[in-house]
Amino acid sequence: MKKRILIIGASGQIGTELSVRLRSVYGNYKVIASDIIVGDEAMMKEGYFEILDAMDYEAVEDIIMRNEITDVYLMAAMLSATAEKFPMKAWNLNMNSLFNVLNLAKEGKIEKVFWPSSIAVFGPTTPTIKTPQKAIMEPSTVYGISKQTGERWCEYYYNNYGVDIRSIRYPGLISYTTIPGGGTTDYAVDIFHKALKHGKYISFLNAETTLPMMYMDDAINATIGIMKAPKDSIRIRSSYNLSAMSFNPKEIAESIKKHIPEFEISYEPDFRQKIADSWPQSIDDSDARNDWGWKHSYSLDEMTKIMIENLKK
Ligand code: SER
Repeated sequence: MKKRILIIGASGQIGTELSVRLRSVYGNYKVIASDIIVGDEAMMKEGYFEILDAMDYEAVEDIIMRNEITDVYLMAAMLSATAEKFPMKAWNLNMNSLFNVLNLAKEGKIEKVFWPSSIAVFGPTTPTIKTPQKAIMEPSTVYGISKQTGERWCEYYYNNYGVDIRSIRYPGLISYTTIPGGGTTDYAVDIFHKALKHGKYISFLNAETTLPMMYMDDAINATIGIMKAPKDSIRIRSSYNLSAMSFNPKEIAESIKKHIPEFEISYEPDFRQKIADSWPQSIDDSDARNDWGWKHSYSLDEMTKIMIENLKK
């Protein structure tokens, strides 16, 4: 089958690793990475890259037509903490980029779309433990509102225009290659950098703030897994709950101490505490496991070991 892939937002935390993995799965010449800014050295020199503004409909259409793209992974977005500071900018970026891609799919110019949603679609009135796929959703952040709205539109485009849209609600993602930008779960990446550099970390969330988290490899496996799954196995066209582990700052600090015994954590919660408090602590992802065979591989301690070993280099 003739498959050609476009990644929009390839220089970001997920996009960087997704680009590398998609190139290794489908071949370098079948994957076009794009972003409004250039990415890290490895991602840039390994394959084909173009500058692209996800909000510019004509530019997105042009890159798709020129390269005969079939599948688009739309990874460009403004995350939760930054979005609270720039609400309109976040809304415009998160929604317009999605509409651009959905409308191109509606017109038959692409075959398949991946768009990430988030645990941020849930809000303070959602049950927090083992949050079900279908729960009360009253998101209280700009980012969460944009993701929830996006989910409604994805389902609408599938139901009314037959757009083959696939989506997962990522938890907080942790990786050693690219640092996240402007999220509430970012502490779980930063803590490793500071532990190795300074032996201590001041957490902007309090000790007991438990959130759903995932090692990046699992997230990439899920992303490629849902895109590869047979069309009729994808029964949910809004977005799938996805889960691997849950921990709080105290627990990740304990895990780090197994490698760096002198490591110390202290707590100075800021405005991000309120965002975190509105999100679930754990997620029930049985639909993803049943429908398209999702399985996670990494636990907190396994991830900690990999993070420390690789960041030391
Ligand atoms: N990791 C994201 C954030 O913290 C949630 O999707 O904003």
